[in-house]
Order: sequence, then C-alpha cells, then structure tokens
Amino acid sequence: MFKLFFTLVTLSNVLVWAQTTFDWNSLAPSPTLNWTPCYSGLQCALFQVPIDYTFRDKRNISIAVARYRATVPAKEYRGPIFFNPGGPANSGVESIVSSGAAFAEFLGAHFDIVGFDIRGIANSRPSISLFDTPAERASYLPDDLSIRMRPLDASDDTLTALWARMQLLGQRAQAYDKPQDYLKYFTTDYIATDMLRLTDAFGFPKLKYWGVSYGSILGQTFATLFPDKVERLVVDGKFASWAIWTARRGLEVCSVFLLLRDPWMTIFCPANLTGSMTDTDHVLQTFFDDCFKAGPSECAYYDSSPAKIAANLKALEERLRRQPISVLTPTSHGVVDYSFLRVLTFANLLGPSDWPNFARLLAQISAGNGTEAYTQKQVPTFQCSQKDVYTLFQATIGMACSDMRPVHDTIPELDAFRKNEAKLSGYGNVWANWRVWCSGWKIHREGKFTGPVGAKTSFPLLIIGNTFDPSTPHMWSQKVSTQFPGSVLLTNDGFGHTSLIAPSTCTHKALGAYFQNGTLPAKGTICPVDFELFPGIKSKQRRSEEDARLLRAISTIRKAVPDHVWW
Ligand SMILES: *[C@@H]1O[C@H](CO)[C@@H](O)[C@H](O)[C@H]1NC(C)=O
Ligand SMILES: *[C@@H]1O[C@H](CO)[C@@H](O)[C@H](O)[C@H]1NC(C)=O
Ligand SMILES: *[C@@H]1O[C@H](CO)[C@@H](O)[C@H](O)[C@H]1NC(C)=O
Ligand SMILES: *[C@@H]1O[C@H](CO)[C@@H](O)[C@H](O)[C@H]1NC(C)=O
Repeated sequence: MFKLFFTLVTLSNVLVWAQTTFDWNSLAPSPTLNWTPCYSGLQCALFQVPIDYTFRDKRNISIAVARYRATVPAKEYRGPIFFNPGGPANSGVESIVSSGAAFAEFLGAHFDIVGFDIRGIANSRPSISLFDTPAERASYLPDDLSIRMRPLDASDDTLTALWARMQLLGQRAQAYDKPQDYLKYFTTDYIATDMLRLTDAFGFPKLKYWGVSYGSILGQTFATLFPDKVERLVVDGKFASWAIWTARRGLEVCSVFLLLRDPWMTIFCPANLTGSMTDTDHVLQTFFDDCFKAGPSECAYYDSSPAKIAANLKALEERLRRQPISVLTPTSHGVVDYSFLRVLTFANLLGPSDWPNFARLLAQISAGNGTEAYTQKQVPTFQCSQKDVYTLFQATIGMACSDMRPVHDTIPELDAFRKNEAKLSGYGNVWANWRVWCSGWKIHREGKFTGPVGAKTSFPLLIIGNTFDPSTPHMWSQKVSTQFPGSVLLTNDGFGHTSLIAPSTCTHKALGAYFQNGTLPAKGTICPVDFELFPGIKSKQRRSEEDARLLRAISTIRKAVPDHVWW
C-alpha cells in the first residue's frame, strides 16, 4: 500500500526516500489550516467546511489541501496560488505532489503553491462512491477500454445501449446516495465557496488562482459569485458559459455566433449544438498536413499527400469496423476496433504532445498489429482490489452530472444532439458521450448555481486560449472575455486542450508576470508556442537556459494533469 520510490535530491546530494502517498486519516479536520509535513517536503492539512452553504444541513466535510511552501523570508511572503487540474475529478493535491517545484519555477518563490482535492474527490472526505464493492462497480461500468467514450456512431445501438446503462447507473447512484445524501452538495458553486474559505484561512482576503479545463469553470464561477474577492485569476482551456456542460439547446452558442456575426450561424442555429467541436477537424487536418511535411522519416503514417493520409485513416476506420484486432497482453486483453481508433485519434487531437508516436501506432494498426497501441493506454484487467482509473471515472460522472443542469432528453433528443454536434466534426460523436452519461442522473440540488457567468471583478481576469483547441474552441475564450469586463485574452498560438499541452515561453512568462506583478498582456497578444508537432520539421532553436527550464517545468506540470477520463 505504502508506495515509496527513490529520488535524487540535488540540494543535499544524498539519496532520500520520496513519499508518493500519505495517510490522510492521520490528520484531524479543522476549520483552521493545521499543517503537517507530508509527501516529500510538502505540507498537508484537512480543512473543514460545511457541507451545505445554506446551513440547513449542519454536517461538515473535509477538503484535502497540500502546499509547496514559498521559500522567501516571511516579510516577502505573498500567500497562496491555487491550481486546479480539471477533470473535474483530477486530484489537485497530486498535481502539487508531482509538480510543486515546477510551478514555483515560473510563478515565483513568494507564493505557496496550493492544490486541494475538490469536495467529494480523491483524498477529501467523504469521497464520491457509487458502489459497495469493486465487483459491483464492474457490473455497472464494464471493464472495457472504450466504454467510457465509445463514439455514438460506432453502431446503430451504441447510443441506446449507453443510454440504458446510464439509466441504471442513475438509479443505482440515487439509491446508494440516499442514506447519506452527499452528492447533491458536490457542485461547483460550493467548491468555489470552499476556495474562498481556504483563501481566508490562509489569512488573505482575495484569491489567486489558475485553473485548466474544468478548472476554468471553477474559476469563472468564483469570479461570478465573488467578483470583489479576485486578486489574480487565470482560466485556461475555458468552457464558455457551461456550453457542453449544461448545454441548453444550443442557444448560448447561437448567441456566440451572433456576437461574432458569423455568417454560417444561419446554417446551424437554432440547433442543439454546443460549438465545442468548432476547431476539432482543423487540428486533424493539421495532423495530415504536418505528417506530410515531416516526411516518412518523422511520420510513420506518411503518404504522398495530406489528402492521401486522410483517406488512409478513413479507410482504416472502416476496415476496423468490419475486422477488429484482438489483443492479448500479460496483464490485459481488449480489441482495437473502430471505437478504439476514433478515441485514440481524438485523444491525440486534444493532447497532440507526441504525434510521431501516434503516427507510428497508426502505421502498426494499419499493418494489422494493435499490440502497442493497446498496451500504451491499456487499463489492467479487472481485479477486485483495483481502484484508480475506475474510481476516477465514477467520481467524474458523480460530480459532473450532479453539477450540470438536469438532462431530461429522450433517446431521439439525444440522437438529435449528437448528430448536431457531429455536423462540426465527426468527433462530436465521441464528445456527446458527456450528455448521455448524465441522462439518467437524478441527483440535483434545488437552487444550485448554473450560470450565466460574468462580472466586473476586483482585478482583471487573464484568459488563455489556444488557437486550435479541439474541445474548447477559441471563440469560447472570446465569449468568456466579453463576460468579464477588463479581462485580457491571451492567445497561445498552438494546438490542443489548454496551454499546458502547447508550452510557450511567451505565454508562461506572461502568466508569471501576471501573478508576480499584476501585469496584463496587451489586448490581442498572440504568443507563439515553443513546441513542434513533428519536432523534425524545423531546425532546432537554441534556447536560453532560463527558457529551457521554464519549458521543462511546464512539461512536468502537463504530466501531472491526467487524461484517463477521455480514454
Ligand atoms: C462544523 O464545523 C464548525 C466549525 O468548525 C463547528 O462550529 C460545528 O460545530 C461543526 N458541526 C458539526 C456538526 O460538527
Ligand atoms: C433540438 O431540441 C429540441 C428539444 O429537444 C427539439 O424539439 C428539436 O427538434 C431539436 N432540434 C434539432 C435541429 O435537432
Ligand atoms: C506487433 O508489434 C509489437 C511491437 O509493437 C511486436 O513486439 C510484435 O512482434 C508485433 N506482432 C506481430 C505479429 O508482428
Ligand atoms: C516583476 O517586476 C519586477 C520589478 O519591475 C521585475 O524585476 C520582474 O522581472 C517582474 N517579474 C516578471 C515575472 O515579469
């Protein structure tokens, strides 16, 4: 249980034990932050908060908090910067355990770098649980690699089968939750309120915060509910006004199109469309183009033109529909089929951090060998003691579905929704899983905050958007920016979901300057990224030692933000 590994600490130049786990049960919850040494060189506390901010339910719950301490003298100390790694079920504590020092590298030594597990998640107590035993979990959520995001066009009954399963899950969750009545309190407005209390417990009246992906929903919610409590707030990979999260018949997105006076708004609106997939196919096209430019030595899936590469991928998908590949490994087994390939591709659009590897896997699959593609991302075959990935998945559904507006869609409505999503990109059929997952969910708190977001804040927000983000398009950043007067939109001129995927010395230095000095980039700033999709295309630049360190730090943080749920 207690996992330890060796790490070389350069400071003392001796071999020390680095703890990767910590017994949170050894801490007593407290409404003040009572710090205890934990992991390697961090401090942890269990922070007590009310479960219900209307105080009708009088119970308390506890939030796991970890900090990487500021290293400056006490008089220069400037308080906590909170980081949220998205998910929504990713552990904020773990992001600090693995990357505390990397954050401090460019955010500065004046701050504590703080991660907390949002209520219901990971080390916070109680934690979201929908089942008594892992075996029971396995019967509700089968142990299949692609169950979590099977494209809804995989077969005629994919949507109906998933819908039926999710009705069961919804009933099960409701029955399981009933005696304790926890889940309805695990919502973003309450998490934002926890964060305000945490800031206060640090002795600072205003929040300093950086949130990626779901973390941008949390950040926008905080800024809307407590606009005069913002000292620094960065949202990165932003979801516009809950677009897919609480998609309300596409109306919000239509208003985005109206706002941008986009002519093709008239084609799509009104339709049940979130616009989430606006930039997805552009990223895919870039894969084809750059694979061609990179040539066969860099891109193993190379062919004589981008169009040829695109056609090959399409043909491969169709081939796998007719003839999937079975894979048996020492620890697992599964199939590389149409669904697998679609999800593999979508994951590589969201996180294009290693396209040469992706191209190699495509070439292998196309040669009839799916072993490496499967083993790179495999989930170990079900064992009764197993937690991790499945725990994360049920926590994600439990939290997201309790948080969003109730989905009362019938099957025909869900089918219309996913078809509309797929008009912008075929990967809408993957992404629309979110809505189906929540279609059986019954647990919702009356009066929870579901937007709209927007407010005049006590300090301007910094909004970071990648030029081509396959799940949260750039137009959403523009929209978010209009909702928070004074905010500045910084465009990180790269591909993928959030700036962590496309590191940029320009963007990440601007982030450091924003936290340290309150400097906002000029309106309309576009930062080039220091990241090549196929590293061989351009000749290697020489970087200063400082820039190289910054880029290494971002890459460390990026690895601390897991993507299991998509995959
Ligand atoms: C919850 O915490 C508050 C603040 O610490 C405390 O005053 C209260 O008694 C606690 N409530 C319960 C039911 O333990
Ligand atoms: C959008 O959803 C509404 C309500 O579910 C439905 O009546 C309408 O037909 C849908 N529109 C399209 C274009 O699918
Ligand atoms: C499939 O690829 C793996 C490595 O990726 C290799 O070890 C294995 O031998 C290949 N299988 C066949 C049947 O070629
Ligand atoms: C913040 O301002 C100080 C003083 O002007 C400067 O030395 C420092 O480089 C700035 N920090 C950043 C990250 O821009």
